[in-house]
Amino acid sequence: SKKLTIGLFGFGVVGQGLHDIIRTKNLNIEIKKIAIKNPGKQRTLPADLFTTDRDEILYDPEINTVVELINDTEAAYEIVSRALSTGKNVVSASKKMLALHLQELIDLQHEHGTSLLYEGAVCGSIPIIRNLEEYYDNELLHSISGIFNGSSNYILSKGNLEGLDYDTALKQAQDLGFAETDPTSDVGGYDAKYKLVIASAHAYGLVVQPDEVMNIGIQNLSAHDMQYAREKNLKIKLVPVAKELDDQHVTLFVLPKFVNETEFLYNVEYEYNGVTVQAAFADQQFFFGKGAGGHPTGSAVLSDIAALRYDYGYEYKKAHAQRGLAFTNNIELTV
Ligand code: HSE
Repeated sequence: SKKLTIGLFGFGVVGQGLHDIIRTKNLNIEIKKIAIKNPGKQRTLPADLFTTDRDEILYDPEINTVVELINDTEAAYEIVSRALSTGKNVVSASKKMLALHLQELIDLQHEHGTSLLYEGAVCGSIPIIRNLEEYYDNELLHSISGIFNGSSNYILSKGNLEGLDYDTALKQAQDLGFAETDPTSDVGGYDAKYKLVIASAHAYGLVVQPDEVMNIGIQNLSAHDMQYAREKNLKIKLVPVAKELDDQHVTLFVLPKFVNETEFLYNVEYEYNGVTVQAAFADQQFFFGKGAGGHPTGSAVLSDIAALRYDYGYEYKKAHAQRGLAFTNNIELTV
C-alpha cells in the first residue's frame, strides 16, 4: 500500500486520540504537520510539528492526505474543499460541515479525482457508513434509526440511572470531551440530525439539506416525562429515524421517544450509540459502540486513513440511487 503523508488540522479530543493510536502502530503513515488555532497552548509533542498557517499543509506537495478534525464549520469547509481541489485525499469528522455541504463535496471529488471519507463523523467508533455504503448496497433498507448522539444519551442516562440533574450531567459530558463547543447542537437534536443526513446519503443515495429535516431535542423534556417513563419501565431516548414510507419516498426526523425493553436501544446508555437497520432480506440488525470520545472516534478516523492507502472512495449507494427514491418531510397522517 502507498505511503501516506498527513497534514492534520486540529489537535483536540479526536486529534489527540488519533495521534495516540497512530503512535502505537507501525503503519506506513506519517503525520508531517499539525495545524492548530492556539499556538500558546502547552503541547506534548515537539513544537516544530505545529503550525498556525493552513497553507503550510495545503501547499505542501509532499502531503497527500489531509485529516480535518476542527470544530469550526466554515473553516473546515474551506480546508476540505481546498484540499480536495488540489489533489489531496481527505478524512474529516466534521458532521455539521459535511451535512451542510455534502453535494458540493461529492461533486468536488468527482471533478478532481480525489476522495473524502468520514466514518468518524457518524456514531464515533461504529462503522456504519462503510456498512451502509458497501454491505447493504443491494439491500432494500426499510429504515435506519438509533442513538446517534453520545452527549444527550449521557445526560439521559445520568438522570435516569443516577438521578443526576440535567446541568451537572451536561457539564460532565463537556468535561469528558463528548459535547460540542455549543452543546445546543447535542441536546437540541442537531448533531444527531447532521449524522442522520450523512447516513441517508449512503443508505438511500439521497442528499438532503439539514434544514428540511425536523428535529426536536431533549432540552424540554419534563420531570413528569421522566417519571412516567420510569413508572412504565420505559426509557426516553433521542432517536433519529430515516424511513421508507412507500416505494417512492423516504422521510427523516429526530425526536425523543419512549423505548421499551424489547428494543435494542433500551440498553444503550451513556456515551454509547446504537444503530438499528431494518432491511427487507437481512431483517433487523443492530450496531453498538462508543459514539464519542478521543480513542473511539480516533479509531474510526484511522480506519478511513488506512482505507486511503488502497484508494478507497464512497460511491453513495449506487444501487439505491437507481431506485429513484425521493425525500419528503410531508408525512401524511392517516386519521
Ligand atoms: N458531540 C457528539 C456526541 C460527539 O455527543 O455524540 C461525537 O460526534
